[in-house]
This record gives sequence, structure tokens and C-alpha cells, in this order.
Amino acid sequence: MGGELAVDGLCVAYGRTEVLFDVDLLVPSGSLVCLMGRNGVGKSTLLNAVAGLLPRTRGSIRFDGAEVSGVRAHKRARMGIGYVPQGHAVFPQLTAMENLLVVLERAGRSDRSVLDEVLDIFPALATLLDRPAGLLSGGQAKQLAIARALVTRPKLLVLDEPTEGIQPSIIHEIEDTIAALHATTGMTMLLVEQYVEFALRLADRYAVMDGGHIVSAGTTTDVDLTAFNDLLAV
Ligand SMILES: Nc1ncnc2c1ncn2[C@@H]1O[C@H](COP(=O)(O)OP(=O)(O)O)[C@@H](O)[C@H]1O
Ligand SMILES: [Mg+2]
Repeated sequence: MGGELAVDGLCVAYGRTEVLFDVDLLVPSGSLVCLMGRNGVGKSTLLNAVAGLLPRTRGSIRFDGAEVSGVRAHKRARMGIGYVPQGHAVFPQLTAMENLLVVLERAGRSDRSVLDEVLDIFPALATLLDRPAGLLSGGQAKQLAIARALVTRPKLLVLDEPTEGIQPSIIHEIEDTIAALHATTGMTMLLVEQYVEFALRLADRYAVMDGGHIVSAGTTTDVDLTAFNDLLAV
């Protein structure tokens, strides 16, 4: 199965401004770990560093035991780290199908059978393949963004706030998809999620960040909800 992520003592800065301080995070193979915390505490920065889009100043990032902190983003993607960044990460002028094909080509794959597998997970997308991605609804675009990441058959799927900006009526669709994906594939997942109930229901483990540090982490079965909500309260 694989896909284990081990972050140790990670420090990341934007120029001279340090944003992550000594972050440790373990995402065991096959687990789903939810990362939580208020806005601006460094969650996306951590995910960007894991995906290879930001350099670290100190610390290590190991993927299935291999040090990847010096490895470039596209190489990390080929090694099996799939990343769905915050926001609508699709090409608006390309059709939904072209969005998927671009990733397939970039990954150097010619086998299109993976597209059928991905569309089985997102049946709603299958009817929208000819539509420019810019004309999809927020929820559809998010499904396409996740589908794009799945085309490379990642061992670790990193999702940054997949329910952000999605209409409340279809947030559950995205949640169900993530839950089903994890349940059926056993794929290792690291998820940033604002909805505490959803996060705790879905995840095996959680980590809470504040001010660029991990301030609480553990298994979701022994969470103290009161303390937890205090950490997340604005
Ligand atoms: N590109 C950037 N340049 C400088 N500072 C940034 C940049 N992106 C984020 N930051 C700062 O880093 C901190 C963490 O941001 P971020 O990782 O986006 O937090 P979160 O995802 O938890 O909301 C914030 O103080 C934010 O203002
Ligand atoms: Mg963020």
C-alpha cells in the first residue's frame, strides 16, 4: 500500500518571515489524518512544503522512508504524492476531459484506463466531460480537481480544504466521496478540513496547528471535544 509521510522538525519561511516552526507530523500508511487550525496558522504552507512547492529551511520530509525535501514537486508527484491545493485548481478554458488528459500526459502515461476508474468514483463528472471547467459549479470543479490528482494513482493524497466555498447542500457529496475513496482504496490521505465533525468522523488521526506549530495531535477516538473546540475557536 505505502504512502507513509513523516515530517520531522520542519521549518519553512517566506523570505525572512518564518511561518512553520519545528513541525512534526506522521501520516501512517493507509491512514487518513486530518489537519485542523484557524486561518493563517500554516496549514497550507505545510501542505505546499510536502508537495514540494515551497522549500524548507530545516527539517526532513520522508515519503515511504525516502527523504524528499530536496526533491522537486513534479518528481514528488511521480513518486506518489498527489496534491489538491486550496481553491479551484483546474484550467478553466479546458474541458473537464482535457483537464484530466493534461495530467495523464504530464505524468507520462498513455494508459487511459485510469480515467474510467476515476470517473467511476465521480459519476457526476462523466456527464460533464465536454464542458469547459470554468463553467462547472464549485462542487463539480472540486470533484474535477480531486479527479485530476487521482489520475496519477497517488499513494498519498493531500487535500487542502476540499469543502471550502462549496454550497452547503453539496458539501456532503464531497465528504461522502472522500470517505468512499478512503474506504474502498485504503489510500493514505492527509486532509485539511474546517468541519470538525466531518474531520473527526472520517479521520483516524488528527493534528491541530496554531501559530506555525502542531499544538495537539492524536487519534480521533480519544479527542477531548471541549479542548478541541477551544483550539479552533476564532
Ligand atoms: N506567499 C506568501 N508569502 C508570504 N506570507 C505568506 C504567503 N502565504 C501565506 N503566508 C503567511 O503564512 C502564514 C500561514 O499561511 P497559510 O499556510 O496559508 O495558513 P492556513 O492555510 O492555515 O490558513 C500566514 O501568516 C500567511 O499570511
Ligand atoms: Mg490554507
